[in-house]
Amino acid sequence: MKNKILSALSIAGTYISGEQLSEILGVSRTTVWNYIKQLRAEGYIIDSVTNKGYKLISSPDRLNPGLIMQKYTPCLIGTKIVILPETDSTNEEIKRRAAMGEKSGLVVAAETQTRGKGRLGRTWSSQSGGLFFSFLLRTELPPSDVTGITLAAGYAVCLGIREFAGINAKIKWPNDIIIGNKKICGILTEMTAQPDQTEYIICGIGINVNIRDFPEEIRSKCSSLLIETGRQTDRSKLLGYVIEKLDKVLSSFMLSLSVDDMVSFRELCATLGRKITFTRGKEKIEATAVDIGSDGELIARDDMGKEYAINSGEVTVQGIY
Ligand code: BTN
Repeated sequence: MKNKILSALSIAGTYISGEQLSEILGVSRTTVWNYIKQLRAEGYIIDSVTNKGYKLISSPDRLNPGLIMQKYTPCLIGTKIVILPETDSTNEEIKRRAAMGEKSGLVVAAETQTRGKGRLGRTWSSQSGGLFFSFLLRTELPPSDVTGITLAAGYAVCLGIREFAGINAKIKWPNDIIIGNKKICGILTEMTAQPDQTEYIICGIGINVNIRDFPEEIRSKCSSLLIETGRQTDRSKLLGYVIEKLDKVLSSFMLSLSVDDMVSFRELCATLGRKITFTRGKEKIEATAVDIGSDGELIARDDMGKEYAINSGEVTVQGIY
């Protein structure tokens, strides 16, 4: 009920009377008042004015289920949302739940992670003020059909951040999100599959939201929405917004299985047109990133005009990080 009151206050965006709240929610005005007191004790600033009612002024920086999905009903991603105060890694949490038969569409977000995982076996520093969440997508398509999913997820998150925060976020192939030349979001996709059939995909997303400063060793490479915009972002609303984008973009990707439907992907990909370095076997190759193939591969051309299709691994982009 508390979350419903919070949700109603948030949707109203202005004063809403105790009488209206009690009618909408089917409880007495005294019950409404008691929940308002509880919400205030939890750090929500709620103004009350005689003859006008209550207005939500601000929320504490805590993930709140009542504020995440307000007006949108997802069909693929976010059909169930679980918020945890702490977990080892939201990807691991989903993995455990998937093994117990959890349905496709689950999103797990956590306030903090004790063993956040990054790509290529790295750790992901899970500082307070960050947003950490993962989703579960079950599909029986062959793994080779869904290789573009990681790009689709990055594209959706990039669109979500751009629109929600009004900021010029771009994609560093395959799916880091950057502002300028600094990283603000990383994505780790894991898959359980047979050679010809996927069982499930877990996609974990870490966004640097209300983080003021980073540890010395990553400071020059990372930024946050707070640093870039100069203002605090409501992480619950941002999470809801990004889940909505993921739901829309991935629903359409699962129909076409092609990156070509993501109309502005190439425009948003900061890697294109830049000099890159990557490895082929033991060889280190320098080339220019020229395009993204339909399956999501990065196409690069060296000075001799030879073309390469890069599917995975580490790509260093000149001028980024
Ligand atoms: C990277 O850029 O290296 C990928 C980082 C992915 C971090 C997110 S945070 C939520 C989810 N849980 C994890 O343990 N990792 C991902």
